[in-house]
Amino acid sequence: MKAEMATASANPACSGATPHDVERVRADFPILQRVVNGKTLAYLDNAATAQKPNAVIDAICQYYRTSNANIHRGVHRLSIEATEAYEQARGKVQRFIGAKRPQEIVFVRSATEAINLVAQAYARPKLTAGDEILITTMEHHSNIVPWQILCEQTGAVLRVAPITDAGELDLDEFEKLLGPRTRIAAVTHISNALGTINPVRDLVEMAHGHGVPVLIDGAQAAPHLPIDVAAIGCDFYTITGHKMFGPTGIGALYGRHELLDAMEPYQGGGEMILSVTFEKTTYNKVPHKFEAGTPHIAGAIGMGAAVDYLEAIGLDRIGAHEHELLRYTTETLSAIPGVRLVGTAKNKAAVVSFLVGDVHPHDVGTILDQEGIAVRTGHHCAQPVMERFGIAATVRASLALYNTPAEIDRLTAAVAKVQEVFN
Ligand SMILES: Cc1ncc(COP(=O)(O)O)c(C=O)c1O
Repeated sequence: MKAEMATASANPACSGATPHDVERVRADFPILQRVVNGKTLAYLDNAATAQKPNAVIDAICQYYRTSNANIHRGVHRLSIEATEAYEQARGKVQRFIGAKRPQEIVFVRSATEAINLVAQAYARPKLTAGDEILITTMEHHSNIVPWQILCEQTGAVLRVAPITDAGELDLDEFEKLLGPRTRIAAVTHISNALGTINPVRDLVEMAHGHGVPVLIDGAQAAPHLPIDVAAIGCDFYTITGHKMFGPTGIGALYGRHELLDAMEPYQGGGEMILSVTFEKTTYNKVPHKFEAGTPHIAGAIGMGAAVDYLEAIGLDRIGAHEHELLRYTTETLSAIPGVRLVGTAKNKAAVVSFLVGDVHPHDVGTILDQEGIAVRTGHHCAQPVMERFGIAATVRASLALYNTPAEIDRLTAAVAKVQEVFN
């Protein structure tokens, strides 16, 4: 019965003329062939990091094999090729998130670095003691701690908009917290712990209505939703390569051109200057002003390849597939007695956080690992979310374009087994 169900919904994104061919997608990811504890790997930890398709692995290898050189500074053939490939990757990211020009894309190490950059280079010079920074309860530590550091440095105050029992942002409270001293709001697009998709366009409109600029943390959104920063209207948007099937150690910050242009550099070094004397240094134009030192060239190229890969499949099709998987996972998991879902927002990405009776999430994770199923257990770098729900940790299954209903059947069977063993 279960297998039948799995087959019936094996291509859940069949709505259009071109279905999401999940088996073909899986063949692009060599790691999915791995056997773990005698079972084929079921990788359900995509919110932590996503696996890499051959197209990304090959693009990185190809760069190192044929074009490796430093960029923006050589006149030789390899340096020109490497520079072109790096700048092409910038153009791909620009188009992928709907930025108007490539100069609005700064390559950084990660979403974390992008947020720190905005905190230090944009917000810090504007803050005096008593000014306010608005975030929400559902932020990842990356979108909390940089602002706390900034508060310590400047005497600014961190304000936190609450979330409901379903894990949705309380929009009225958010608006109430936008006051005359709010200098910036920083909100996640998708919660990594709860899966909640925030109405970012509305939030930006609200904040702008109070003259408050907005940073959207899109680390979890980029692999799952079409992103259009122009339509969202945000001032800054951050993404991270490894969660969108690209390499680790690379991410991108989108910033409105006039804001980036007016900002002081974040770090000093090579590449970010026009001229240096001991008396005076003049800085390079954006985005290079923010890319001090030799960047992660292979990483940017790999991220560009990941963008190509996602676009070739289509974010709408990926979204439809994941939506169906989310529905199936929610339905089957919550049918197991004793399973409690944490995060039940109406508008959700395919992240399912749950508890199995009183069983410690690490024990659940260990049993799932024995079945070859990789999930995340713990606080998911979102301890305030855990505190909000009065728990220390959850088990989190986070799904992606290559996951199948059959893998969800394996998950639910293993969770049912946990329930039997412990209760
Ligand atoms: C919502 C969210 N923001 C930011 C980050 C930080 O991403 P990175 O570690 O790549 O900087 C994460 C990572 O889990 C995340 O889930």
